[in-house]
Amino acid sequence: MSAETKQLSREIERRRTFAIISHPDAGKTTLTEKLLLYGGAIRQAGAVRARRAARHATSDWLELEKQRGISVSSSVMTFEHDGFRVNILDTPGHHDFSEDTYRTLAAADSAVMLIDAAKGVEPQTRKLFHVCRMRGIPIFTFVNKMDRQGRDPLELMTEIEEVLGIHATPVNWPVGAGADFKGVYDRLQKRLLLFHGGDHGSTQVEREIIDGEPGSGPVREALGPLADEIIDSLELLEGAGENLDPAKVRAGELTPMFFGSALTNFGVLPFLESFLELAPVPYARPSSKGPIDPAVNPFSAFVFKIQANMDPDHRDRVAFVRVCSGVFRKGESTTHVPSAKKIRLANSTLLMARDRSSVDEAYPGDVIGLFDPGIFRIGDTLSDEGDFTYEGIPSFPPEHFVRVRVAEVLRRKSLEKGLLQLTQEGLVQLFKDPDSGSAAPILGAIGPLQFDVLKFRMEAEYKVEMRLDPLPYTVARWIRGTYDPETFRYASNARVVEDREGRKVLLLERIYSLNHYEQNHPELELAETPFDHQFDQVP
Ligand code: G4P
Repeated sequence: MSAETKQLSREIERRRTFAIISHPDAGKTTLTEKLLLYGGAIRQAGAVRARRAARHATSDWLELEKQRGISVSSSVMTFEHDGFRVNILDTPGHHDFSEDTYRTLAAADSAVMLIDAAKGVEPQTRKLFHVCRMRGIPIFTFVNKMDRQGRDPLELMTEIEEVLGIHATPVNWPVGAGADFKGVYDRLQKRLLLFHGGDHGSTQVEREIIDGEPGSGPVREALGPLADEIIDSLELLEGAGENLDPAKVRAGELTPMFFGSALTNFGVLPFLESFLELAPVPYARPSSKGPIDPAVNPFSAFVFKIQANMDPDHRDRVAFVRVCSGVFRKGESTTHVPSAKKIRLANSTLLMARDRSSVDEAYPGDVIGLFDPGIFRIGDTLSDEGDFTYEGIPSFPPEHFVRVRVAEVLRRKSLEKGLLQLTQEGLVQLFKDPDSGSAAPILGAIGPLQFDVLKFRMEAEYKVEMRLDPLPYTVARWIRGTYDPETFRYASNARVVEDREGRKVLLLERIYSLNHYEQNHPELELAETPFDHQFDQVP
């Protein structure tokens, strides 16, 4: 093995790239911040929120984030801890931005599912969990807000197993709850961890470690009045629970569970330490020529997100690229597979929240930002060999549609430019309506909030004021192969439009019309995405 290959393997082994998924308000921002605190990336908690506030001052479209109290854009946070290199892919929390979240999950090697101890499994968690399951992404569970009176931990565990259909195995178990939440018992290392202090969560907490089986003298003594109850629960888990089988975790069949409070920092470090040990290293990803081994093949990567105008002072587009194999070296050339063009990777940035620092080398699992001259699309593969494409950037059929009306006809050019760039970012999907005689484009989105963001950004960045008239459609299906236009001629609740590439797309008002067409026209092949690979629908 050459020194270079050895170095590559070492770098891969120490990388952990994951996303946190949760229902809004479960505490994702807080947990992310605390992981950064423990990872040494920030010295005092509060910095991420402060950074968010500072960002608002410099970037005007993010004003919308502030107004709505949501996170519109996602970024990547990187830190080193205990020899590990950790990449947290930040996913937007609002359910309207789910498509962006789904794409981010495609770039992650595992997901941390954050659950509010009082609320249990919430609708958004279920949806995101389902996507992870379909993509075979290993899932870790962090039950948050243990400092508040929540639900019984055994009941939460059962709910996760029943509602999500996955086995759960607690790596640690909470000691007390609400104001009495004192620590966790670490089932793997057989030790009790008690937490003290912590300056209301802004700095790290102190921990006291008491080694021993749950029933042993020192542990029993430290548990005090809670001892019997906790020892009973731990015995129950020992007898009836699943063992922590790494193969099952890797296959997404078993979720290791942790308890804690991101607010007070109780349980954050034990989670981080165990997670880094258990979470998968960057693994071989499926491609058109089979799985690509990260450690063997030359450099390859794929684009999972594109964002324009991140910095209002410099009109730019950044393509977020996940490295999948080999080493990225600044200044070297690679092939942009869809266009078969050689490109030089000159301007690359490693992204730590919104601060950019130049990156000279990156390894599988890392995310780099490439300045995009306008050639990248979401899902594009970059590869030194240039002879394969990565598969699996999920695409979802839009469920909301509007027709674009522009107030000033003279702004037409800016309108076209803005729409093109923002659709390339994947914010909305653009359709033409060839039969209506109207040149006004139709836009489709997963959630209606995306239209608000679009309108806002078109005004702020392209100086185009527009009106978006809602259309009654809720279903979109790509028509594969040929079809008889007569089929839809007299249908008042159906319309055939074209996507950007000229592919025919059927828009329907109601899902039951879809059943009607599927039953009465078996020759019609209707697909949820324009691509050949099928992606199951999220319930
Ligand atoms: P999100 O990104 O998932 O939407 O959640 P975020 O971290 O913003 O947290 C949502 C609310 O829950 C915040 O309260 C936050 O302080 C609180 N929270 C997060 N983790 C914990 C925890 O472990 N325990 C408790 N008790 N609360 C927690 P807020 O009142 O909306 O905001 P703020 O005034 O605290 O900033």
